[in-house]
Amino acid sequence: GNGARDRLRIAIQKSGRLAEPARALLNACGLSWRESRDRLFCYGESLPVDLLLVRDDDIPGLIRDGVCDLGVVGRNVLLEQDIALRSEGGTTAFREWRALGFGGCRLALAVPEGWAWQSPAQLGSTRIATSYPAILRQWLDGQGIAAEVVELSGSVEIAPRLGQADAICDLVSSGATLAANQLKPVMTLLESEAVLAGPAAENFGQLWDDARGELAELLLRRLDGVLRMRH
Ligand code: PRP
Ligand code: ZN
Ligand code: MG
Repeated sequence: GNGARDRLRIAIQKSGRLAEPARALLNACGLSWRESRDRLFCYGESLPVDLLLVRDDDIPGLIRDGVCDLGVVGRNVLLEQDIALRSEGGTTAFREWRALGFGGCRLALAVPEGWAWQSPAQLGSTRIATSYPAILRQWLDGQGIAAEVVELSGSVEIAPRLGQADAICDLVSSGATLAANQLKPVMTLLESEAVLAGPAAENFGQLWDDARGELAELLLRRLDGVLRMRH
């Protein structure tokens, strides 16, 4: 709920590519936690800043609902859910507070290796599989392309071989998954990395009038110091 709290709560990915680097970064900011037995909630020791370990896709919703105050999540996930919410008539509920410099990848359109790629116009009347339907739909609309968006929650790269789609739109990091599935990237829709996500506001003081405002400001100051040293 949205009630007053005197501890800051940060959601991070439970397992996956962002999980360890997110903890390491918060650790470098001076945060430490007592490990709980189920390890889904980590009680902050050095500061009243607790961690919640969740699915990355749940992080924007947890922030919107006020269950968590901040989160570490891919820009791709944050943008997807922001566009989806706004297309349903909602207002922007969260924003990127800082880019964190790890988890770099891009959201790319990829087509079978055999295609002679010329321009996005070739995507007209095709079916494109993706886990990012809102970002893809917005991009297609912007390009004036009428393609069918096939939403899949995972294993998107196999869809062309299964005849479910003609092309895909998915995250590319090393490119190994695309190559293994005889696909080639042809357009980048979004450059992504891990970001510190929080509610949409100008500053933390506007958000919380309990202890969380100052805790979040302290964390952000330390984070900026750590990020500067890493560059
Ligand atoms: C991501 C993405 C691609 C893959 C790309 O999946 O969805 O499938 O990584 O990485 P590569 O270019 O280095 O091969 P991830 O493993 O994070 O799992 P998920 O799709 O289930 O989130
Ligand atoms: Zn995920
Ligand atoms: Mg994947």
